[in-house]
Amino acid sequence: PPEERAKFYRETRRPDGSLLREYEIFAVDREIEIAPGMFFPAWTFNGQVPGPTIRATEGDRVKVTFRNLGTHPHTIHFHGWHPPEMDGGLPGQEVEPGATFVYEFDAEPFGVHLYHCHTVPLKRHIHKGLYGAFIIDPRDPRPAADEMVMVMNAFDTNFDAENEVYAANTVANAYMPDPIRVTVGRPVRIYLINVTEFDLINSLHLHGMFFDVFRTGTMRTPSEHTDTLMLCQGERAIVETTFRYPGDFMFHAHQSEFAELGWMGLF
Ligand code: CU
Ligand code: CU
Repeated sequence: PPEERAKFYRETRRPDGSLLREYEIFAVDREIEIAPGMFFPAWTFNGQVPGPTIRATEGDRVKVTFRNLGTHPHTIHFHGWHPPEMDGGLPGQEVEPGATFVYEFDAEPFGVHLYHCHTVPLKRHIHKGLYGAFIIDPRDPRPAADEMVMVMNAFDTNFDAENEVYAANTVANAYMPDPIRVTVGRPVRIYLINVTEFDLINSLHLHGMFFDVFRTGTMRTPSEHTDTLMLCQGERAIVETTFRYPGDFMFHAHQSEFAELGWMGLF
């Protein structure tokens, strides 16, 4: 809701026509539901996993006030251009519990990026849930489409450094009983991000159709036309397609193990 959004986001027009986009992000420990009745003791940005999507247009100024309300030191490390002082991954840049840090940089390049905590042990801080999408739109906008962010993630529920639950957007199998609604003939754009910890790769496979792939979203022409896309941890891509037929279209990781542990859904 807009009034809720206004608490954490403000935009101001600058003399050159671009925007200053100010975000309030806080880290907080919170239990989240990753499957019906299954809870995970997450570390979150703004109480949710993935964290809120940060979105800007190429050339905007992004200013993120980060408050650490958690019980461990954390940071926000953004992918994209920025000076080292804004990196959040270098030694000494940890934000202690109770402390605040302001990250500020120009939004470039356009594409689908990522932000995440970069405190050691990194695999634990990322796996616990401290990540989100960072989308930079090109100045010359992409064609109209129905859009969604799809974060491929997983959870190690018994802390043995292997995942027990896999998902698209945190909740295992969530889109099976409640499919993602799309419209025949209308373009669909998915901002796909892989943040799965402990497994080197993850993938998206879509039944009954093919899609265009824009790796990292940084080029305007697709580099692949496929039905299966593999991404390393931290890799992203924009996936575009248009549904031809009404009905159910399954999507899932093509690693059968991941699919059977929750990474499966329906359009
Ligand atoms: Cu952290
Ligand atoms: Cu990263």
